[in-house]
Amino acid sequence: MLSDVLSLKFNPLVPEVKDAEISEKHLSDLKGYFADEHAYEQLLSEDPILYRVSTWEIAHGDGDLICGFGILQPGKVGDEYFFTKGHYHEWREAAEIYVGLSGEGYMLLEHETNKESKLFPLSANRIVYVPGYTAHRTINVGTIPLTYMGIYSVRAGHDYGALVENNFRKILVARDGKPTLIDRREYANARIPKGVS
Ligand code: PA5
Ligand code: NI
Repeated sequence: MLSDVLSLKFNPLVPEVKDAEISEKHLSDLKGYFADEHAYEQLLSEDPILYRVSTWEIAHGDGDLICGFGILQPGKVGDEYFFTKGHYHEWREAAEIYVGLSGEGYMLLEHETNKESKLFPLSANRIVYVPGYTAHRTINVGTIPLTYMGIYSVRAGHDYGALVENNFRKILVARDGKPTLIDRREYANARIPKGVS
């Protein structure tokens, strides 16, 4: 049926789907995700909202699509910029298209098999194609909320489990005020005080 619900007007600065359930993630929902555990514990007393997602789902047939709108707040845990949990799709073949709406950020992609990582800018008028078998995380490096939409198959599903154990290999931190991608392991090693093995 070609009804009016097939069209949606949204505000690119606050893209939320009216009457849809909103999933809101606070810092406390991301325990173990950020590299600097001390900075994480310190910020936990405020437990800021990190991001909100609402989804536009109009039909649930096998061939249908979901459009998820994200609003990711600016901020850092230690040197590391605020990000979304990140996930693979349960149906690994499923790709996704991200469209930047406002703000300034990146998408960190990591291939499941060879663990290759790559960072792509995400901002207004930019689109990022996330291939299948690829973990994806959105990161805000700006001073205002980063807003975007992700369009994916209803069959895709979200698999967070694999990343809870291993996390992404790379982290995006501020170095001299600039977003810099570094190895998580190197960062952890550099933080071990001298004389401790
Ligand atoms: O489906 C997607 O990829 C997005 O809508 C994400 O769910 C959204 O960016 C939030 O990220 P995450 O699901 O990793 O918490
Ligand atoms: Ni996804």
